[in-house]
Amino acid sequence: MARIHNFSAGPAVLPESVLQQLQSQLFEFGNTGIGLMEMSHRSAAFSEIVDTAQARVRRVLGLPQDYSVLFLQGGASSQFLAVANNLLQGGVADYLDTGTWSAKAIKEAKRFGTVNVAFSGKESGYNAVPTDWDKSQDAVYTHYTSNNTVAGTQFPGLPASHAGLLVCDASSDIASRPMDYSKIDVVYAGAQKNLGPSGVTLVTLSPAAQERAAASDAPTMLKWATHIAAKKQLFNTPNTIGIYTLERVFAWIEEQGLQAVAERNTAKANALYDLFDGSEFWEAHALPGSRSQMNVTWRLGQRDLESTLIAQAEAAGFSGIKGHRSVGGLRASIYNACPMDSVTALVDFLSEFERSHG
Ligand SMILES: Cc1ncc(COP(=O)(O)O)c(C=O)c1O
Repeated sequence: MARIHNFSAGPAVLPESVLQQLQSQLFEFGNTGIGLMEMSHRSAAFSEIVDTAQARVRRVLGLPQDYSVLFLQGGASSQFLAVANNLLQGGVADYLDTGTWSAKAIKEAKRFGTVNVAFSGKESGYNAVPTDWDKSQDAVYTHYTSNNTVAGTQFPGLPASHAGLLVCDASSDIASRPMDYSKIDVVYAGAQKNLGPSGVTLVTLSPAAQERAAASDAPTMLKWATHIAAKKQLFNTPNTIGIYTLERVFAWIEEQGLQAVAERNTAKANALYDLFDGSEFWEAHALPGSRSQMNVTWRLGQRDLESTLIAQAEAAGFSGIKGHRSVGGLRASIYNACPMDSVTALVDFLSEFERSHG
Protein backbone atom coordinates (compact mmCIF):
# COMPACT_ATOMS: atom_id res chain seq x y z
CA MET A 1 0.00 0.00 0.00
CA ALA A 2 1.24 3.50 -0.79
CA ARG A 3 2.02 5.97 1.98
CA ILE A 4 -0.86 8.32 2.71
CA HIS A 5 -0.92 11.98 3.78
CA ASN A 6 0.06 11.85 7.45
CA PHE A 7 -0.92 14.81 9.66
CA SER A 8 -0.36 13.03 12.97
CA ALA A 9 0.58 15.24 15.94
CA GLY A 10 3.22 12.74 17.04
CA PRO A 11 4.77 10.33 16.53
CA ALA A 12 4.68 12.00 13.18
CA VAL A 13 5.79 11.68 9.57
CA LEU A 14 9.55 11.27 9.06
CA PRO A 15 11.60 12.05 5.95
CA GLU A 16 11.33 9.11 3.55
CA SER A 17 15.07 9.14 2.90
CA VAL A 18 15.70 8.72 6.64
CA LEU A 19 13.27 5.79 6.85
CA GLN A 20 15.05 4.12 3.95
CA GLN A 21 18.47 4.57 5.57
CA LEU A 22 17.11 3.20 8.81
CA GLN A 23 15.72 0.19 7.01
CA SER A 24 19.04 -0.54 5.37
CA GLN A 25 21.01 -0.33 8.65
CA LEU A 26 18.70 -2.50 10.72
CA PHE A 27 20.04 -5.81 9.49
CA GLU A 28 23.68 -4.77 9.31
CA PHE A 29 25.06 -1.41 10.40
CA GLY A 30 27.75 -0.36 7.92
CA ASN A 31 30.18 -3.27 7.62
CA THR A 32 30.03 -4.26 11.26
CA GLY A 33 28.17 -7.51 10.76
CA ILE A 34 25.76 -6.38 13.49
CA GLY A 35 22.36 -4.73 13.11
CA LEU A 36 21.74 -1.19 14.37
CA MET A 37 19.67 -2.30 17.36
CA GLU A 38 22.05 -5.13 18.24
CA MET A 39 25.26 -3.28 18.94
CA SER A 40 26.60 -2.05 22.27
CA HIS A 41 26.10 1.60 23.09
CA ARG A 42 29.78 1.55 24.13
CA SER A 43 30.98 0.21 20.76
CA ALA A 44 33.16 2.31 18.48
CA ALA A 45 30.45 2.42 15.83
CA PHE A 46 27.80 3.71 18.20
CA SER A 47 30.20 6.19 19.84
CA GLU A 48 30.68 7.71 16.42
CA ILE A 49 26.92 8.04 15.98
CA VAL A 50 26.66 9.88 19.30
CA ASP A 51 29.56 12.20 18.48
CA THR A 52 28.05 13.01 15.09
CA ALA A 53 24.59 13.52 16.54
CA GLN A 54 25.86 15.91 19.22
CA ALA A 55 27.92 17.84 16.66
CA ARG A 56 24.93 18.19 14.32
CA VAL A 57 22.66 19.36 17.14
CA ARG A 58 25.24 22.02 18.05
CA ARG A 59 25.58 23.19 14.44
CA VAL A 60 21.87 23.31 13.61
CA LEU A 61 20.84 24.95 16.89
CA GLY A 62 23.92 27.19 17.09
CA LEU A 63 25.15 25.89 20.46
CA PRO A 64 28.76 26.43 21.61
CA GLN A 65 30.90 23.57 22.92
CA ASP A 66 30.26 24.43 26.55
CA TYR A 67 26.53 23.65 26.17
CA SER A 68 25.59 20.08 27.11
CA VAL A 69 23.71 17.99 24.56
CA LEU A 70 21.91 15.05 26.18
CA PHE A 71 19.82 12.26 24.66
CA LEU A 72 17.59 11.13 27.51
CA GLN A 73 14.56 8.88 27.95
CA GLY A 74 11.24 9.44 29.67
CA GLY A 75 9.87 11.91 27.13
CA ALA A 76 9.33 15.63 27.53
CA SER A 77 6.96 14.73 30.37
CA SER A 78 9.90 13.58 32.51
CA GLN A 79 11.60 16.90 31.84
CA PHE A 80 8.56 18.73 33.31
CA LEU A 81 9.73 17.17 36.56
CA ALA A 82 13.47 17.26 35.89
CA VAL A 83 13.55 20.98 35.05
CA ALA A 84 12.13 21.93 38.42
CA ASN A 85 13.98 19.20 40.32
CA ASN A 86 17.31 20.38 38.91
CA LEU A 87 16.82 24.13 38.93
CA LEU A 88 14.16 25.27 41.36
CA GLN A 89 15.59 24.09 44.69
CA GLY A 90 12.88 25.79 46.73
CA GLY A 91 13.02 29.06 44.79
CA VAL A 92 10.53 30.86 42.53
CA ALA A 93 9.96 30.25 38.80
CA ASP A 94 7.80 32.10 36.28
CA TYR A 95 5.68 29.83 34.08
CA LEU A 96 3.67 30.85 31.02
CA ASP A 97 0.50 28.80 30.81
CA THR A 98 -0.15 28.62 27.08
CA GLY A 99 -1.88 25.26 26.89
CA THR A 100 -2.22 21.64 27.91
CA TRP A 101 1.49 20.91 28.04
CA SER A 102 2.56 24.00 29.96
CA ALA A 103 -0.20 23.27 32.47
CA LYS A 104 1.34 19.82 33.01
CA ALA A 105 4.80 21.39 33.45
CA ILE A 106 3.36 23.78 36.05
CA LYS A 107 1.80 20.92 38.00
CA GLU A 108 5.16 19.13 38.28
CA ALA A 109 7.14 22.27 39.14
CA LYS A 110 4.94 22.97 42.17
CA ARG A 111 6.55 19.98 43.90
CA PHE A 112 9.90 21.78 44.10
CA GLY A 113 9.23 25.43 44.90
CA THR A 114 6.98 28.40 44.18
CA VAL A 115 5.41 28.68 40.76
CA ASN A 116 4.30 32.10 39.57
CA VAL A 117 1.91 31.62 36.66
CA ALA A 118 2.92 34.88 35.00
CA PHE A 119 0.45 34.49 32.13
CA SER A 120 -2.49 32.21 31.48
CA GLY A 121 -4.33 31.91 28.20
CA LYS A 122 -6.83 29.44 29.65
CA GLU A 123 -9.80 31.85 29.76
CA SER A 124 -9.44 32.64 26.05
CA GLY A 125 -9.18 28.97 25.02
CA TYR A 126 -5.40 29.24 24.63
CA ASN A 127 -5.76 31.03 21.31
CA ALA A 128 -2.75 33.35 21.75
CA VAL A 129 0.71 33.53 23.31
CA PRO A 130 1.83 36.56 25.34
CA THR A 131 4.33 39.21 24.26
CA ASP A 132 4.86 40.33 27.86
CA TRP A 133 3.92 39.24 31.38
CA ASP A 134 4.46 40.05 35.08
CA LYS A 135 7.98 38.92 35.92
CA SER A 136 9.07 37.83 39.39
CA GLN A 137 12.04 39.81 40.70
CA ASP A 138 13.69 36.72 42.10
CA ALA A 139 12.74 34.06 39.51
CA VAL A 140 15.33 31.29 39.14
CA TYR A 141 13.97 30.68 35.66
CA THR A 142 11.14 31.35 33.22
CA HIS A 143 9.50 28.37 31.52
CA TYR A 144 7.64 28.60 28.23
CA THR A 145 6.35 26.21 25.57
CA SER A 146 7.54 27.54 22.23
CA ASN A 147 4.83 25.73 20.26
CA ASN A 148 1.55 24.57 21.70
CA THR A 149 0.77 21.34 19.93
CA VAL A 150 -2.84 21.08 21.08
CA ALA A 151 -4.03 24.71 20.75
CA GLY A 152 -1.98 25.44 17.62
CA THR A 153 -0.19 28.54 18.87
CA GLN A 154 3.52 29.38 18.67
CA PHE A 155 5.82 32.09 19.95
CA PRO A 156 6.97 33.96 16.84
CA GLY A 157 10.54 34.02 18.19
CA LEU A 158 12.48 34.26 21.44
CA PRO A 159 10.71 36.12 24.27
CA ALA A 160 11.82 39.79 24.28
CA SER A 161 12.59 39.61 28.00
CA HIS A 162 12.27 37.19 30.91
CA ALA A 163 13.41 36.72 34.51
CA GLY A 164 16.20 34.32 35.48
CA LEU A 165 17.30 31.46 33.24
CA LEU A 166 15.21 30.76 30.14
CA VAL A 167 13.73 27.24 29.84
CA CYS A 168 11.84 26.08 26.77
CA ASP A 169 9.74 23.04 26.00
CA ALA A 170 10.45 22.96 22.26
CA SER A 171 8.98 19.49 21.66
CA SER A 172 6.82 20.45 18.73
CA ASP A 173 8.85 23.12 16.92
CA ILE A 174 12.51 22.36 17.57
CA ALA A 175 14.74 22.91 14.52
CA SER A 176 11.84 24.20 12.44
CA ARG A 177 13.33 27.69 11.87
CA PRO A 178 16.60 29.50 12.41
CA MET A 179 16.76 30.78 15.98
CA ASP A 180 19.52 31.54 18.45
CA TYR A 181 19.03 28.57 20.74
CA SER A 182 22.12 29.57 22.71
CA LYS A 183 19.93 32.29 24.25
CA ILE A 184 17.86 29.54 25.90
CA ASP A 185 19.45 27.98 28.99
CA VAL A 186 17.45 24.76 28.86
CA VAL A 187 15.84 23.39 25.72
CA TYR A 188 14.03 20.06 25.91
CA ALA A 189 12.11 18.21 23.24
CA GLY A 190 10.63 14.78 22.80
CA ALA A 191 11.96 13.63 19.42
CA GLN A 192 8.73 12.24 18.00
CA LYS A 193 7.59 15.31 16.09
CA ASN A 194 10.52 17.01 14.37
CA LEU A 195 13.49 14.82 15.26
CA GLY A 196 12.75 11.12 15.01
CA PRO A 197 10.95 8.37 16.88
CA SER A 198 9.53 8.55 20.40
CA GLY A 199 11.74 7.35 23.22
CA VAL A 200 14.56 9.86 22.91
CA THR A 201 14.42 13.33 24.43
CA LEU A 202 16.89 16.01 23.47
CA VAL A 203 18.00 18.26 26.35
CA THR A 204 20.48 21.11 25.91
CA LEU A 205 21.93 23.03 28.85
CA SER A 206 23.83 26.31 28.98
CA PRO A 207 26.82 26.63 31.36
CA ALA A 208 24.60 28.67 33.73
CA ALA A 209 21.96 25.94 33.79
CA GLN A 210 24.63 23.27 34.36
CA GLU A 211 26.03 25.26 37.27
CA ARG A 212 22.65 25.71 38.94
CA ALA A 213 21.73 22.05 38.40
CA ALA A 214 24.99 20.79 39.92
CA ALA A 215 23.64 21.61 43.41
CA SER A 216 20.36 19.73 42.90
CA ASP A 217 19.44 16.74 45.03
CA ALA A 218 17.42 15.13 42.21
CA PRO A 219 17.47 11.30 42.07
CA THR A 220 20.26 9.86 39.94
CA MET A 221 18.39 9.39 36.65
CA LEU A 222 16.58 12.73 36.78
CA LYS A 223 19.70 14.67 37.76
CA TRP A 224 21.18 16.29 34.68
CA ALA A 225 24.68 16.28 36.29
CA THR A 226 24.60 12.46 36.21
CA HIS A 227 24.32 12.46 32.42
CA ILE A 228 26.68 15.39 31.87
CA ALA A 229 29.45 13.64 33.81
CA ALA A 230 29.05 10.27 32.07
CA LYS A 231 31.31 9.18 29.19
CA LYS A 232 29.77 10.49 25.94
CA GLN A 233 26.93 11.72 28.20
CA LEU A 234 25.60 8.15 28.22
CA PHE A 235 25.06 7.20 31.87
CA ASN A 236 22.97 4.13 31.12
CA THR A 237 21.75 2.35 27.99
CA PRO A 238 20.11 4.96 25.75
CA ASN A 239 17.57 4.54 22.96
CA THR A 240 20.22 3.66 20.39
CA ILE A 241 17.94 3.43 17.35
CA GLY A 242 16.31 6.71 18.39
CA ILE A 243 19.66 8.52 18.58
CA TYR A 244 20.72 7.15 15.19
CA THR A 245 17.44 8.32 13.64
CA LEU A 246 17.76 11.73 15.27
CA GLU A 247 21.27 12.02 13.83
CA ARG A 248 19.93 11.18 10.35
CA VAL A 249 17.09 13.70 10.70
CA PHE A 250 19.57 16.42 11.67
CA ALA A 251 21.70 15.44 8.64
CA TRP A 252 18.57 15.83 6.47
CA ILE A 253 18.02 19.31 7.95
CA GLU A 254 21.65 20.27 7.42
CA GLU A 255 21.58 19.16 3.78
CA GLN A 256 18.77 21.61 3.05
CA GLY A 257 19.70 24.31 5.55
CA LEU A 258 17.40 25.44 8.34
CA GLN A 259 16.40 28.54 6.37
CA ALA A 260 15.01 26.44 3.52
CA VAL A 261 13.21 24.17 6.00
CA ALA A 262 11.67 27.25 7.65
CA GLU A 263 10.56 28.73 4.33
CA ARG A 264 8.80 25.51 3.42
CA ASN A 265 7.15 25.41 6.84
CA THR A 266 5.86 28.97 6.39
CA ALA A 267 4.53 28.19 2.91
CA LYS A 268 2.70 25.08 4.19
CA ALA A 269 1.13 26.93 7.13
CA ASN A 270 0.13 29.93 5.01
CA ALA A 271 -1.62 27.70 2.48
CA LEU A 272 -3.95 26.51 5.26
CA TYR A 273 -4.40 29.83 7.10
CA ASP A 274 -5.15 31.62 3.80
CA LEU A 275 -7.94 29.14 3.11
CA PHE A 276 -9.42 29.56 6.60
CA ASP A 277 -9.20 33.38 6.54
CA GLY A 278 -10.77 33.52 3.09
CA SER A 279 -14.25 32.25 4.02
CA GLU A 280 -16.66 32.18 6.96
CA PHE A 281 -17.10 28.48 6.38
CA TRP A 282 -13.85 28.04 8.38
CA GLU A 283 -12.58 29.45 11.69
CA ALA A 284 -8.86 29.35 12.45
CA HIS A 285 -8.48 28.84 16.21
CA ALA A 286 -5.26 30.78 16.87
CA LEU A 287 -5.10 34.55 16.56
CA PRO A 288 -2.77 36.13 13.96
CA GLY A 289 0.62 36.78 15.54
CA SER A 290 0.34 33.58 17.60
CA ARG A 291 -0.37 31.07 14.88
CA SER A 292 1.63 27.87 14.80
CA GLN A 293 3.52 26.83 11.70
CA MET A 294 3.58 23.25 13.02
CA ASN A 295 0.04 22.51 14.24
CA VAL A 296 -2.77 24.31 12.43
CA THR A 297 -6.05 24.16 14.39
CA TRP A 298 -9.43 25.16 13.07
CA ARG A 299 -13.15 24.62 13.31
CA LEU A 300 -16.08 24.71 10.93
CA GLY A 301 -18.69 27.44 11.34
CA GLN A 302 -21.22 24.58 11.16
CA ARG A 303 -19.91 22.45 14.03
CA ASP A 304 -22.14 19.50 13.10
CA LEU A 305 -20.25 19.12 9.82
CA GLU A 306 -16.92 18.50 11.55
CA SER A 307 -17.40 14.76 12.07
CA THR A 308 -18.48 14.37 8.41
CA LEU A 309 -15.36 16.19 7.28
CA ILE A 310 -13.08 14.10 9.49
CA ALA A 311 -14.63 10.85 8.24
CA GLN A 312 -14.43 11.90 4.59
CA ALA A 313 -10.84 13.08 5.02
CA GLU A 314 -9.79 9.75 6.55
CA ALA A 315 -11.49 7.89 3.72
CA ALA A 316 -9.69 10.08 1.17
CA GLY A 317 -6.26 9.27 2.64
CA PHE A 318 -5.70 12.21 5.02
CA SER A 319 -4.72 10.72 8.36
CA GLY A 320 -4.72 12.42 11.77
CA ILE A 321 -6.70 15.62 11.22
CA LYS A 322 -9.12 15.15 14.12
CA GLY A 323 -8.45 17.86 16.73
CA HIS A 324 -7.17 16.93 20.19
CA ARG A 325 -9.99 15.65 22.40
CA SER A 326 -9.59 18.62 24.78
CA VAL A 327 -10.42 21.24 22.13
CA GLY A 328 -12.30 19.38 19.39
CA GLY A 329 -12.37 20.67 15.83
CA LEU A 330 -9.57 19.83 13.44
CA ARG A 331 -5.81 19.96 13.48
CA ALA A 332 -3.22 19.40 10.78
CA SER A 333 0.26 18.78 12.14
CA ILE A 334 2.68 19.84 9.44
CA TYR A 335 6.11 19.31 10.98
CA ASN A 336 9.39 19.64 9.06
CA ALA A 337 9.04 16.30 7.27
CA CYS A 338 5.45 16.83 6.14
CA PRO A 339 5.77 17.41 2.37
CA MET A 340 4.28 20.49 0.69
CA ASP A 341 2.40 18.04 -1.58
CA SER A 342 0.45 16.70 1.40
CA VAL A 343 -0.61 20.20 2.40
CA THR A 344 -1.57 21.15 -1.17
CA ALA A 345 -3.66 17.99 -1.42
CA LEU A 346 -5.35 18.78 1.90
CA VAL A 347 -6.13 22.36 0.83
CA ASP A 348 -7.67 21.02 -2.42
CA PHE A 349 -9.71 18.49 -0.46
CA LEU A 350 -10.97 21.11 2.01
CA SER A 351 -11.82 23.56 -0.80
CA GLU A 352 -13.86 20.86 -2.50
CA PHE A 353 -15.62 20.05 0.80
CA GLU A 354 -16.50 23.73 1.20
CA ARG A 355 -17.91 23.85 -2.36
CA SER A 356 -20.14 20.87 -1.73
CA HIS A 357 -21.26 21.81 1.80
CA GLY A 358 -20.89 25.60 2.05
C1 LIG B 1 4.72 20.67 23.58
C2 LIG B 1 4.73 19.29 24.17
N1 LIG B 1 5.34 19.08 25.34
C3 LIG B 1 5.39 17.87 25.91
C4 LIG B 1 4.79 16.78 25.31
C5 LIG B 1 4.86 15.43 25.99
O1 LIG B 1 5.84 14.71 25.37
P1 LIG B 1 6.17 13.18 25.74
O2 LIG B 1 5.04 12.36 25.25
O3 LIG B 1 7.47 12.96 25.03
O4 LIG B 1 6.31 13.11 27.21
C6 LIG B 1 4.16 16.94 24.08
C7 LIG B 1 3.54 15.77 23.41
O5 LIG B 1 2.80 15.86 22.47
C8 LIG B 1 4.11 18.22 23.50
O6 LIG B 1 3.51 18.42 22.33
